[in-house]
Amino acid sequence: MSSETDHHLGEAVAARIERRWATLSIVIVGLLVGMATFIGIHQATMPQGRVEIANPKTLHLSGEFVESNLGTAVEADGSVVVRAIGQQYSFTPQCIVVPAETPVTLRATSADVVHGLLIEGTNINTMLVPGYVSELPIRFKKPGEHVMPCQEFCGIGHQGMWGKVKVVEKAAFSNMMASRRRTSCVD
Ligand code: CUA
Repeated sequence: MSSETDHHLGEAVAARIERRWATLSIVIVGLLVGMATFIGIHQATMPQGRVEIANPKTLHLSGEFVESNLGTAVEADGSVVVRAIGQQYSFTPQCIVVPAETPVTLRATSADVVHGLLIEGTNINTMLVPGYVSELPIRFKKPGEHVMPCQEFCGIGHQGMWGKVKVVEKAAFSNMMASRRRTSCVD
């Protein structure tokens, strides 16, 4: 075999190996893109592991979110639960009262379109989606007042959609609840 042929052979082998690696890296990139796409679409289209539904059309008629059941309540097990709804263009109740230094569960939904619920000065920020119940644990360190604007554009009245959260001392809250099942600070 001449050195010329050897040289050509070497080149051919090198080119083949190079092509193989190029193909492999394209396959790897393709695989990663595929995985990212799948995960993204899966997360965006699949509901959360645990979803609760609430029909926005019958909220006011029956079930957990009827008007008389909204506000802050101490449940039978002693836990504090706030129930609220968002609708164009207000929250009900307009003013939520909660005890300080107490774990509170916020449960809320929307009666019409998607609203946002943000409590200023905290990291509490959730969406109220018609048809679904948004639940999140909240806890306030000290008494005070927080404004609660709607943070999701929901129509022409969006700018005026505000609520308020009033955090009171634990003892004051117990006193308030001594004589009733449910409370709010709407006057
Ligand atoms: Cu409700 Cu913006």
